[in-house]
Amino acid sequence: MEIEKIKKEIVLEMDNAADSAAVEKLRIKYLGRNGEINSLFKKLKDLPVAERRKIGPKLQSLKSELGALFSNRLEVSKKTSVAASVDLTAPAKKVSKGHLHPLTLVDAEIRRIFLGLNFSVVEGPEVESEYYNFDALNVPANHPAREMWDTFWLKQEARDKRPETKLLLRTHTSPVQIRYMEKNNPPFQIIVPGKVFRYEATDASHEVNFYQLEGLMVGKNVSLANFKFVVEEFFKKFFRGQKIEFRYRPGYFPFTEPSVEVIIKLPAHGGALPDGGRGASGGENRWLEVMGAGMVHPKVFEYAGYNPRDWQGFAFGVGIDRLAMIKYKIPDIRMFYSGDLRFIKQF
Ligand code: PHE
Repeated sequence: MEIEKIKKEIVLEMDNAADSAAVEKLRIKYLGRNGEINSLFKKLKDLPVAERRKIGPKLQSLKSELGALFSNRLEVSKKTSVAASVDLTAPAKKVSKGHLHPLTLVDAEIRRIFLGLNFSVVEGPEVESEYYNFDALNVPANHPAREMWDTFWLKQEARDKRPETKLLLRTHTSPVQIRYMEKNNPPFQIIVPGKVFRYEATDASHEVNFYQLEGLMVGKNVSLANFKFVVEEFFKKFFRGQKIEFRYRPGYFPFTEPSVEVIIKLPAHGGALPDGGRGASGGENRWLEVMGAGMVHPKVFEYAGYNPRDWQGFAFGVGIDRLAMIKYKIPDIRMFYSGDLRFIKQF
C-alpha cells in the first residue's frame, strides 16, 4: 500500500471540491464508517504479520491526519461560501440613527436664538433652598403668593427650619436670578433653562416636572420696551415664518412690578392645543398665554445686594414644554415623559 500516494490523491480531490457540501461528501467517502480508509484497515488482516506491523501505524496516522485536514478544509469552505453569498451590489440596510427628544430640540433652539441676542446661558441647582426659591424673590413665608407654586419639600431634620437651609425642589427657575446677581454685576442679560417641579395632579397640561426658561436683563436703563423687543424677536424666530400677534396683559408676580403676561396668536394654529381645546374660541386663531414677565421688583434687587436706585431690569419665565407643544401641536404634556417610542420617533 502506498500510503503517501493515497494521501496526495485525497488532498488533491479535497482542493478541487467546490463547496463545503462536496468536501463533506469526500470526507464520508474516505473517513466514513464504510469509507475507504476503513476498508484498507480491513485489508490489513490479509497481510503477513511483518507487513501488518509496518503498515498498520502508518494507516492510523494517515487516518488522523486526514481527519484534521478535512475539518480544516470544511471550516475554510464554510467561511468562503458565506462571503460568496454576500451580494455586494445589494442596497445597504438602513441604519436607524438615534435622534433628539422634542424638548431637547426646543431647548437647543431657544438657546441658539437668545445667544444670537447676546444673552448668556446660566444654570442653577434643582434642589433649592426656601430662601432662593421664595424669600429672596419677595415671597416671604405665609405670603398668599406661595400658593402659586405647589411645592415638593424635602424631608429634613426638624431642628433647623431657616429658609436658608430648608430644602425643596425648585418650583421655577427664578431663584437663579438671585444666585446670579449675588455673584455678578450689571449690566448683563442671561437666560436660565432648567427643570422645575410642582406638587400637582397631572393632566394634559400639567406635569410634576417640566422645563422652564428664565430670562433676566439688568442695566441702567433697561425698560419694558426693551423687554417687548427681545420677546417679540424671540417668538418671531421661534415660530419661523408665521405672522404672530402679541398682547400684553397685566399679571401678578411678587418678584416683578409691574408684571405682565404675554399672549400670542398664531395664524396657522389649528387642531390640538396645549389646553386641550378649551380656549376662548375653541379652535384656531386662539390667544395662547406663553409667558410671565415684568420689571424686576426693587425688593429683589435688594435681596441680591444691588441698590434698586441704580439698576433696573426685566425678567421673564416661559414653559419650554408649552412652547414645544405649540410648535409641534402636541395635545398632552405627559407625552414628553411617557417614553412611548411611537411618539418619540416622530421627531
Ligand atoms: N417664575 C414665574 C413662574 O414660574 C414666571 C416668571 C418669571 C414671572 C420671571 C415673571 C418673571 O410662574
